[in-house]
Formats: sequence, C-alpha cells, structure tokens
Amino acid sequence: MPAVIEFWRQLLVSQRHQRERITHLEQVNEALRDEIKRRAGEEQKLRQARQDAERANLAKSKFLAVASHDLRQPVQAMFYFSQALSYRLSDEKSRKVLADLDRSLESLKSLLDSLLDMSKLEAGVVVPRAQNFLISELLLRAAAEFEPMAEHKGLRLTVMPSSARVNSDPALLARVLQNLVANAVRYTSEGRILVGCRHRGSRLSIEVRDTGVGIPPERLNEIFEEFTQVTSSHRHEGQGLGLGLAIVRRLCDLLGHRIAVRSNVGKGSIFCVEVPMAEARACRAA
Ligand SMILES: Nc1ncnc2c1ncn2[C@@H]1O[C@H](COP(=O)(O)OP(=O)(O)OP(=O)(O)O)[C@@H](O)[C@H]1O
Ligand SMILES: [Mg+2]
Repeated sequence: MPAVIEFWRQLLVSQRHQRERITHLEQVNEALRDEIKRRAGEEQKLRQARQDAERANLAKSKFLAVASHDLRQPVQAMFYFSQALSYRLSDEKSRKVLADLDRSLESLKSLLDSLLDMSKLEAGVVVPRAQNFLISELLLRAAAEFEPMAEHKGLRLTVMPSSARVNSDPALLARVLQNLVANAVRYTSEGRILVGCRHRGSRLSIEVRDTGVGIPPERLNEIFEEFTQVTSSHRHEGQGLGLGLAIVRRLCDLLGHRIAVRSNVGKGSIFCVEVPMAEARACRAA
C-alpha cells in the first residue's frame, strides 16, 4: 500500500513539474514572439531609413546633374576674364598673381568636373553612344593634355602608335583615359609613362603604365571606391578628391569594358581597359 501512495505522490509531483515547465515554455515563447515583433519593427525602420537616404542621395545627384551647366558656366567665365586680364597686365608681379589664379581655377574646374561627372553617373543620366573610331586619336589627346605636367615633373610620356579601330563611346572612353593618365602622372615622380595597346582576340587592351609609387596589393580593390586615397602623402598637394577611379569604374561598367590593374609598390602600376575592336586588325604596340 505505501508503494501505491508513493507512486501517486511521485505522479502528482511529476505532473506539477510538467505544468511548471509548460508555463515556463509558454512564457519563453511569448518573450520570443515579442522579440521577433520588436526586431521586425526595427528592420522595417532601418529599411525605411535606407530608402529615405537613397532617395535623398538620388535627389542630390539629379539636382547636380541638372544644375551641371549652371555650375560650370561661372568657372568657364572666370577663365575668359583671366585671359582678358592677361592682355592688360604687363608687370611681372601682376602676371605671377594671375598665373596663381589660373592654377587655382584649374583645380576648381577639375574638382567640379569630378563631382558633376559622378552625380550624372549616379543619377543614371549618362547614355553611352557607341561608334567605331581610331583609338590613336583618343590616346594622343589624353597624353597631350598631361604632357606639360609630365614635362614639368621631368617624366617621359609616350604613346605607342596603333592603327586599331575600336567600338565604344569616344567621349566616355576619353574620360576614362584622361583619369588614368592623370593618375599615372600624379603618382610618378621619376621615370616614364607609357600609353599603348595590345590585341587580345576580338578586344583591344588599352594600357597605361607608369614607374610610380605603386599600390599595395591589399588596397587594389579599394581604389575604385569613391573618396578612397591610398597614397596619403600626395594629399597635401591639394589634388583630387579620390573620385577619378570611381568614375572610371562606373564608366567602364556602363560601357561594358573590363578594367584591371596590376601594381608593384615602389616600381609602378599598369591599368588596362579592354575595349571591343571595331574590326579584326592587328594593333601595332611594342
Ligand atoms: N597610377 C597610380 N599609381 C599609384 N597610385 C595610384 C595610381 N592611380 C591611383 N592611385 C591611388 O588610388 C587612389 C584613388 O585614385 P583616384 O583617381 O580615384 O583619386 P585621386 O587621384 O586621389 O583624386 P581624383 O582622381 O579625384 O583627382 C589615389 O589616391 C592613389 O592613392
Ligand atoms: Mg585620380
């Protein structure tokens, strides 16, 4: 008999424990439901904040893209005024001040160009118009623009001759090359810059080589991000915003051209853009 009583007692205890466990589990379940609800609410708020930020960024880019002409015009006018003034100034000191003013204007123009180009690309208002053309014209033009700066730094800037015809948007590809040659000259203090091309099947690889400071391997991906500057010692020269290669990347994405970089710290860098050939013709590059 005591065994039966003991059995009942244990059964009741066990039932009570089970009820307590169920109550506890229900409480945990309830708390979990609350937590899930809270997190879902927070995620929704985050999504909303992100959408608002993206909308604001797009609105800013669209505004700048539309106002682009109005923002560039006063700078262009300042160039004309400066030129007009240069005809009237005869004394050496005033001419020197004017030369300094011109240099500042050049920097301002270059910064404004980068910001406005980026805004246009972000706003999605750049539409590529592909056509067939001789690549040599573009290469020579990009080099000619930076020849004075290269000469000033004692660098040899050479363009290898090429008879290749490519299929791309000449204005947008020119902007890509302009940024690559500008960097090559900026980040090289001695040696040479070589602009040439190589035939790769149905594509032409346009290459900009320099004997400059180079880029550490672990930072090669970063340089194509907006506002990234690796060679911080060059920052004090007051040049650039770190937008040039971000513009290059976006333009290449838009044009469907592959962009690649190889670099050796202290030895130099090679930036390559692969462009479709207009026709299968050999590219004479050394
Ligand atoms: N040819 C190069 N040799 C060495 N470093 C380079 C070269 N090209 C780019 N870099 C590095 O990559 C960074 C990003 O280049 P990017 O062209 O985007 O910006 P930037 O030249 O600093 O400024 P911006 O082009 O806006 O005037 C540079 O700050 C530099 O550190
Ligand atoms: Mg640059």
